[in-house]
Amino acid sequence: MIDNQHGKKIQNMFDRISPRYDLLNRILSGGNDMRWRKKAVDMLGDLKGKTALDLCCGSGDFLTILSEFYHSDINLYGADFAKNMLNIAHSRLGLDHRRNIILCQADAQALPFADNSINAVTIGFGIRNVTDKNKSLKDIHRVLSPTGKLVIIEPSIPKNKFVAFCFGFYFGKIMPLIGGLISGDFQAYKYLNKSVEAFPLPDNFCQMMTRAGFSNSKAYPQLLGTAVIYYAEK
Ligand SMILES: C[S@@+](CC[C@H](N)C(=O)[O-])C[C@H]1O[C@@H](n2cnc3c(N)ncnc32)[C@H](O)[C@@H]1O
Repeated sequence: MIDNQHGKKIQNMFDRISPRYDLLNRILSGGNDMRWRKKAVDMLGDLKGKTALDLCCGSGDFLTILSEFYHSDINLYGADFAKNMLNIAHSRLGLDHRRNIILCQADAQALPFADNSINAVTIGFGIRNVTDKNKSLKDIHRVLSPTGKLVIIEPSIPKNKFVAFCFGFYFGKIMPLIGGLISGDFQAYKYLNKSVEAFPLPDNFCQMMTRAGFSNSKAYPQLLGTAVIYYAEK
């Protein structure tokens, strides 16, 4: 399914760190990640009776929030290429007993959904790992309905130099250490730091979304600019 070396490496890495992923997310973001996800879901407006896709869904944080909010009044898809992450999402969401949430193993660059079939797409801390972000954004645009909305959360390097220094120290030194100690995989948490540094700045990422066909692309900085919620419309 993944036909490039880099993609395969990332897929294996997430499969490896999946058992401790949720715990580390909460510790490393100081619990802010769930607050940002709730804010991002609010930006999507009323999704009652509609269809939403959580792309790069991992262990299902966005899906949990959406299903707690809408119960069975929403059709949810979760897509990720790491099988172990999907297995955790499956048991966490109790999917043996639910009909309105479907998980699928899929590449974010080649979505197995029909054109115009999805009303909202969420991506939490996933797009920066995708090898060809342009291709992925274009494919998300394709599957979204004509009034569809996209929200994305990513860590970001803050504009303020002092905050950026502290952020760099935290992401470059503390996070790989804590992540490495708890997950047993120091390489993975070093990679996660590098992937944050390599991600486009907020204005540039908004331009990328616009070039992929989206309108009204916006970046909403969170917590002194250490994370950004991106919003765009088809
Ligand atoms: C940092 S985790 C985020 C998981 C979840 N969205 C969250 O908010 O906690 C990134 C996820 O993106 C997935 N991922 C990365 N590249 C992908 C791709 N090309 N296609 C599908 N999933 C991908 C990984 O398997 C991993 O589960």
